[in-house]
Amino acid sequence: MSLLDWKTIYNRPEKTNTPEYRLDFYKKEKDEYVLTSNVKSEYLKLKNAEKKDQTYIDESQRIVYCAVEDFDYGSIRKAAAYSIKEIKKYGIDNIWIDDIEMKSAAAEGIIFTEFKYDFLKKKQESEKNNLHLNVDSFKARAQNIARFLTMTPPNLMTPTLLSNYMENIVHDLNLNINVEIFDQAEIEKLDMNLFMSVAKGSEEKPKLVILSYLGKTQSKIDKSLDFSQNSVKITDTTEYDIIMVGKGITFDSGGLSLKPPKSMFDMKGDMMGAATIFGSLLATAQEELKVNVKVIIPICENLPSGKASKPSDVVFGRNGKSVEILNTDAEGRLILADGLNLAEEFSSKMILTASTLTGAAIVALGNEYYAIYTNDDEIYNKINIAGEKTADIGWRMPLNKKYMKLMKSDVADFANVGFLAGSPTAAAFLNEFVEKKEFVHLDIAPMLDCDDITVFGKKFGGRPCSMLYELLKLLSL
Ligand code: BES
Ligand code: ZN
Ligand code: ZN
Repeated sequence: MSLLDWKTIYNRPEKTNTPEYRLDFYKKEKDEYVLTSNVKSEYLKLKNAEKKDQTYIDESQRIVYCAVEDFDYGSIRKAAAYSIKEIKKYGIDNIWIDDIEMKSAAAEGIIFTEFKYDFLKKKQESEKNNLHLNVDSFKARAQNIARFLTMTPPNLMTPTLLSNYMENIVHDLNLNINVEIFDQAEIEKLDMNLFMSVAKGSEEKPKLVILSYLGKTQSKIDKSLDFSQNSVKITDTTEYDIIMVGKGITFDSGGLSLKPPKSMFDMKGDMMGAATIFGSLLATAQEELKVNVKVIIPICENLPSGKASKPSDVVFGRNGKSVEILNTDAEGRLILADGLNLAEEFSSKMILTASTLTGAAIVALGNEYYAIYTNDDEIYNKINIAGEKTADIGWRMPLNKKYMKLMKSDVADFANVGFLAGSPTAAAFLNEFVEKKEFVHLDIAPMLDCDDITVFGKKFGGRPCSMLYELLKLLSL
């Protein structure tokens, strides 16, 4: 099957000869209009600017005035996104932003809001994205790639196709990322039994994608694993700053513990953890950050069939621990468990996972914050800084072994579900598979829906791709 033309999402328009308009941001304080520039604007008074999302265009001065709630990253990003409709009405296609601080936020807002998913509709003369900016944001473009991968329907984003997209995107963008794709036989040789216990219910074969980026030396590794002997050998001895493991369930029906129909609608997005991590690596390689990053992505479908795992099956994980699968819908933690155990075999101080892991995280946090689980204060602080920098913030939740007692099993080391504290129990479960390294788990299920539709679209906004990129940047310093 051929791949959709993802480049139309990624590429940015060239500069044209049409007049350049300056983007300026204003805040109304009493009757004063405070601007990011030091222009005194009578124009705004004339227009009697009021509401928070109002954009005014002064054609004589060629200035687009965007209203903001505050002069911070999130407000500027939002105001820039909101201004686009008005800007297009005037046929403006060259934008100039002066203020250095605001540039990146405004670019991100515009790049996000211009994201359109119209690959599968009858081709109409759809409005093209023709807005040229004097500033770019690779992290925003990369997040749009994550959104594209997440939004593409599951029949067009099978495990094979997702791995093909990853390879194709890295190749076409000519990035210094090593892509390795392993098939079912190799996954079995790696003893990833928990991963296979989910994958085996589907006709579609699972894939394991490993991406390696060596920014410190700008070199490439040869191979991560060697399958030529009886047992698999780890051949990559690079010291990584971080290894990221992403949940790549391309469709989650729940398996035999089948979800009700409505709960299945969004489950093509159950690979957003994989997509956001992938996006952050794209931007990192594009910007040539001096950081070494490895990414491990187990990819499969979770479907019911005669071959699917049955509730109460017991499976031994790659680390030898036995798990009673009481609920086949708690599949993310199973594929991640083996992914984490594999990650432990490479050299790095830290492992991070991102996954749309539990509905319970949405109950706890709504669509406002993703859940952060870690016992490492230093990395927590970095995530916080990266979150503040990109207005893409998470909320810390408890990572504690105590929760394991809710997952006692009569027959195995533990079960895959507890019946209280859905998100913290899932986190504690994952932590059972990380022994040697610092561990961070982001439950990003809350990010599947979006609060701010103008900026991120209705669903599958690809958060926190931008934050992850900033985190990698902090690790590169
Ligand atoms: N992919 C879901 C979690 C999810 C639900 C993400 C809704 C986004 C929106 C996950 O695999 C799942 O089904 N989790 C179960 C766990 C339960 C069986 C313990 C859930 O959250 O209901
Ligand atoms: Zn599930
Ligand atoms: Zn899932």
